[in-house]
Amino acid sequence: MDNGNKMWAGRTDGNTEKISDEFNSSIAFDSRMYKEDICGSIAHARMLAAQGIISDNDCESIVAGLGGILEDIENGALKIDPSCEDIHMFVEKVLTDRIGDPGRKLHTARSRNDQVALDIRLYLMSQIKEIKDGIKALIGVICAQAEKYSDTIMPGYTHLQRAQPVSFGHHLMAYSFMLLRDIGRLDDVYKRTSVSPIGSCALAGTTYNTDRLYEAKLLGFDSASLNSMDGVSDRDFVLELASAVSIIMMHLSRFSEELILWSSWEFKFIELSDGYTTGSSIMPQKKNPDMAELVRGKTGRVYGDLIALLTLMKGLPLAYNKDMQEDKEAIFDASDTVKNCIRIFAGMLGTMKVNKEGMRKAALEGFINATDLADYLVGKGMPFRNAYKVSGRLVALCIENNLTLESLPLELYKSVSGEIGEEVYDFVNIDNCLAKRKSLGGPAKESVLSQIRFVRGELND
Ligand code: ARG
Repeated sequence: MDNGNKMWAGRTDGNTEKISDEFNSSIAFDSRMYKEDICGSIAHARMLAAQGIISDNDCESIVAGLGGILEDIENGALKIDPSCEDIHMFVEKVLTDRIGDPGRKLHTARSRNDQVALDIRLYLMSQIKEIKDGIKALIGVICAQAEKYSDTIMPGYTHLQRAQPVSFGHHLMAYSFMLLRDIGRLDDVYKRTSVSPIGSCALAGTTYNTDRLYEAKLLGFDSASLNSMDGVSDRDFVLELASAVSIIMMHLSRFSEELILWSSWEFKFIELSDGYTTGSSIMPQKKNPDMAELVRGKTGRVYGDLIALLTLMKGLPLAYNKDMQEDKEAIFDASDTVKNCIRIFAGMLGTMKVNKEGMRKAALEGFINATDLADYLVGKGMPFRNAYKVSGRLVALCIENNLTLESLPLELYKSVSGEIGEEVYDFVNIDNCLAKRKSLGGPAKESVLSQIRFVRGELND
């Protein structure tokens, strides 16, 4: 292809093969950073003028030209030209076409290497904020549901076997705490993303008297990178974000798995709303939890993005290498996917119906009060290990006679341990078992309500 007028045609004539142009191009996916690219260039022009590297007049025409490009892209008047190599080249080309010579001065004291590092940082900073807002909204929905079901008894499970009594609110709140930690991780990633690389130039800084800190401040960064080679070759923040969102997806995937189980006929603890389920094309009775399944499935995709990024970076010598262009699709995919999943989740949870009776029935059937029975015997002075054995024998006795600890006659209790009295029935009463679990972080109603207060307080910080 005759591309003798390529901006980078210096030593070479720029006559690359058409298939090389296509292979080399990133505009199909990096054009989403047009705003960051333009804002970055406006700040760069202002810094160049403030330092006397370009004139104020040139700066004003660059800034006005860039402002016009931004407006035209946003109102649809300017279409992004897919034949440009990347978004940086596109913006600079349109600017130069529109304002002439001043446009050719914009690229003084910078390189596409620090420019792309700048754009992706700015873009991801806004993504982190969006993901955080989504998580906050989701936590809000969880807290509202948890409040509603703060004393709705259900079996808590280990090994997917009924274990001890909890409430549905308590179970839900466990996810709020996971998501709060996710917010903490995102805040942490943000700190290391908010470091301006611009002015690192190609790799070795510049001989111009630039003011990198001023430019960083104009763009809202907290600081500027302090080694020009690191500035252009660091993608740790991309990896950190991919890993933070992988953990978010892992949480959502576990939650999905539970919603899928709970909405099965076998459990029947919840019913997901029609808005978040589908039917089957052949089986008219079906209500499939597709959205929850897709969130679980997309978790694998986000993990794939993380692994792709880690592998991409592992053997790269300093500083910039074109391999790094491959970072964008993976991190964009990861951040788009997590945002969608969080949004879907909030709707799905907010509209689910809860079958309190079904949960209660399951809570009454699995001997989840057997530990409480042992604790009752401990209260009578029996060492826990002995109490554990006695309680186990009583459970076996119930199973033999098709009874529960609540319905086992006192004589049968006494046949195993003479110390057991009438009050045992209060101790194995399932509501009492839940209400007594008041330890810090426990499932008793007051504890769940105080968890909700704590989480809401964190969200308002
Ligand atoms: N499209 C490139 C990327 O995404 C921009 C940087 C190009 N730099 C270069 N020296 N070719 O990484």
